[in-house]
Parts: sequence; structure tokens; C-alpha cells
Amino acid sequence: MKPINVGLLGIGTVGGGTWTVLTRNAEEITRRAGRPISITTVADRNIERAQAMTQGKAKVVDDAFAVVRDPEIDIIVELIGGCTVAKDLVLAAIENGKHVVTANKALIATHGNEIFAAAQKKGVMVAFEAAVAGGIPIIKALREGLTANRIQWLAGIINGTTNFILSEMRDKGLPFDAVLKEAQALGYAEADPTFDIEGNDAAHKATIMASIAFGIPMQYERAHIEGITKLQATDIAYAEQLGYRIKLLGIARMREDGVELRVHPTLIPARCLLANVEGAMNAVLVQCDAVGPTLYYGKGAGDEPTASAVIADLVDVTRMHTADPEHRVPHLAFQPDQLVDLKV
Ligand code: HSE
Repeated sequence: MKPINVGLLGIGTVGGGTWTVLTRNAEEITRRAGRPISITTVADRNIERAQAMTQGKAKVVDDAFAVVRDPEIDIIVELIGGCTVAKDLVLAAIENGKHVVTANKALIATHGNEIFAAAQKKGVMVAFEAAVAGGIPIIKALREGLTANRIQWLAGIINGTTNFILSEMRDKGLPFDAVLKEAQALGYAEADPTFDIEGNDAAHKATIMASIAFGIPMQYERAHIEGITKLQATDIAYAEQLGYRIKLLGIARMREDGVELRVHPTLIPARCLLANVEGAMNAVLVQCDAVGPTLYYGKGAGDEPTASAVIADLVDVTRMHTADPEHRVPHLAFQPDQLVDLKV
């Protein structure tokens, strides 16, 4: 079957992971998508880096705007980040009738309303699973898995950098600045780590989850945001002595008078599951009327974990884009010859 053509904008950490996983798991992904997903063009300012990754298997260019105008491309994957060039590129891609997959939480949280309106007008899809909690399929859970429920509240550790800092300060007694540097070296932190430590990154993600959970527009500018920069090592130690852990939580709650949206350091009893989410891991607890509490846990950052979410969106968009209705529902990729007898 004819491949669906993808233009990849940015082949850094997540872009590189996307290329690697898409190549390594091509057979399974093709089966699940119903047709091959082919990254035909990569745009990156660092041509050498892009060429080294793609090894001649994709066209490499430095002009991302040429890619979003290319009539041969069906889906644009935006992994540039930020809200300036990325916003222009996403709007231009939509204007040119292309579906968009993005991991850009800042863009979706602050300009999502405008982007979704433009996409609706052109009849194209904008998918952003990778924007929240990296590889954890939390958008899909909120939108699909929990769709029968009234969601009452959600609370999540959705910034790996700050969770890593708080864990290392508590466990190893290391100073804030030293752990932040380590988080940057490990590739968890944003290009501007202020976004992590001041709570903006978590607020972007909480904004997106609140929008899906409660069916409201993105309202990042109305979130209460407080980061971890005012915390002292003594706060963490005293919390520990009292049987609590301090975690930076993103919280969205449906109240009688509207939705509450906030990010701040929170004392959590040490026996709670959320209190035991350590290092750069993420977790989101969602409280619903029918199912009760559900908890989602996994890697919230990094190359292949985030690529996992990007590719899940690529598969979804490919299925929906493909005219054959057979491919519009999740494909159960069973192979009769791969069944084994279960021993009971
Ligand atoms: N800086 C982010 C974090 C990366 O630390 O969670 C993933 O969004």
C-alpha cells in the first residue's frame, strides 16, 4: 500500500528517537497503521546531524517552510519547540491541508485554541499526545479510555526535571543547582530550564489535560503557577520527618463554580503512590465518577519514550486519513501463526 508521507521538523532528541523507533519497529507500525509511515523529508538547522541520523534515507533540508508547503507531504511532525517559528510552521502546515503531530506543550497550551480552529476550518487533524507526560498515553486515556466518566479532578507529577531535583535533594542531600545541571546533562530539562523550575512546563501540561478532561478551551494564562525555586533543603527534610514528600503537582479540578487549575509544590503523605514516583518519572492520578481513581505512570521525557507518543499519533492520524474505513478502528494485530498455547 502507498506510504503516508511525513515531513519531520527538528531531528534533535525526540526527532532522533522518532526516526529510530519508526525504523526499528517499521513492520509492526505498518501493520497497525494499515500502511507504511515514511519520513520522506527532514528539516533541521543542523544539516550534518540530520544527515548522520537519516543516512540518505530521507531528503534533508534547512528550510522548514518549504516542507510545510510540499504537496507530496501528508503529515507534518513539529518537534522544534517554542511558540514563534513553530507556531508559524504549524499554522502554515494546516493552511496547506496537512495534518500535524506535535510534542510542543507550550504551543498547544498557549495557542491551541487558534490552532484547533484553523485545523477544523481546513478539516485536518492536530495530535499532541507527546506534549503531556512524554510516553504515558494520558491524552488518549482522558479522551478515549475515560470517555464514559465525569472526571472530577486530576493531579500529576508532570515535570521530570523538578521531580528529579526534589528526589536527588532528598535522597543524596545534593544542592539544587548541582542537581539542575545533572538534569540538563541527562536531557530532561527544557532549553530554558526556568520553564521547569518555575512550574511553567507543568502548567502547560496541566492546561492541556484540563482542556481535554473538562472540555474547556486552553486557558494557560489563568493557571496559578508556583515552582520549586523557593524550596530549601530543610523544607524537604522537615516534610520527610513528618511523613510527607514534597512533589510539584499539576492539579485540575471541576468545582461547582468552574475549573481550578494550579501548579505548586505539594505535601503528599509518604504512603501514597504519587509520593513514591521518583527521579524523572511522571505519574497522573485521575479521579472519575464511574471508574473511581486511575493512575498512569511512566517516562515523561527522553528520546524513545516521547517518540513512542509521537508515533502513536502518527498511527492514529494515518488510520483516520486513510480512506478505507477498515483502518479507522484500532487494528488487532494478531497473527494466527504467532498464537501459543497457554499452559494452565
Ligand atoms: N522538561 C520536561 C520535563 C521535558 O522535565 O518533564 C518533558 O516535557
